[in-house]
Amino acid sequence: MWWGRRKNQPQRVEPFSIGKRLEFDVHSHLVPGVDDGASNLSESLALVDQLVALGYRGAVLTPHIYTGLYPNSKSTLSAPFAALQAAVKERHPMFTLHLAAEYFTDEHFMQCIQRDDLLSFPVGDARAVLFEMGFQEAAPNLDEAVFELQLNGYQPVLAHVERYPYLVADARALGRLEDRGVWLTVNAASLAGAYGPEIRTFAAELLASGRARMLCSDAHGDRHLQALEALQTDAAVHRALEAGHLDLQRQIP
Ligand SMILES: [Fe+2]
Repeated sequence: MWWGRRKNQPQRVEPFSIGKRLEFDVHSHLVPGVDDGASNLSESLALVDQLVALGYRGAVLTPHIYTGLYPNSKSTLSAPFAALQAAVKERHPMFTLHLAAEYFTDEHFMQCIQRDDLLSFPVGDARAVLFEMGFQEAAPNLDEAVFELQLNGYQPVLAHVERYPYLVADARALGRLEDRGVWLTVNAASLAGAYGPEIRTFAAELLASGRARMLCSDAHGDRHLQALEALQTDAAVHRALEAGHLDLQRQIP
């Protein structure tokens, strides 16, 4: 028996319905043809079908908004989102979709905040805005973006915290973000081991301590839905759910 390897395996529990427990998926790329997620309506619908099958009652769709790469905006996204929403309403009348975005923390994001031209999603009384950074280094305007979001009445939500090596290695920097009120989120694929054991362990620690406030599919395609499915026997996710650490997702109308 190779105990080292065995020790690294996640603990298992009896299967539970991840969608019924989380209720709402937050963070996905299911708006057809606008980023590196679903490329057409039928792909989008197939992914929604899988979220429904997992027990979710709704999803927050968060297309990339990233200068130069994905020059999306409220106005470019509204038509493809409306087309998907109409098709989903026919197919799954009880499944709710919200349109938000995953903002890259660049100068364009700052302009969107200053113009109050933001795609946000409701969580209880909060208006949440999802943002990401590059994987090499923290955004130089991170502090300013968080400050400006809060000043304008928005709740900052940081995408896939476990995937930034400079935050994994710097507990103080991560702690500062939390102290300032940023909600941290982790990706299902990270917990399922897609990015290796270190990232999986870090994501599991964030869940166990309640520091991760949301568990997101970040669905771009089928593989991310498979990760969610795999987590339905994951003891770390089960414990976090039982402890109420992921209850924010249930507060989305
Ligand atoms: Fe994403």
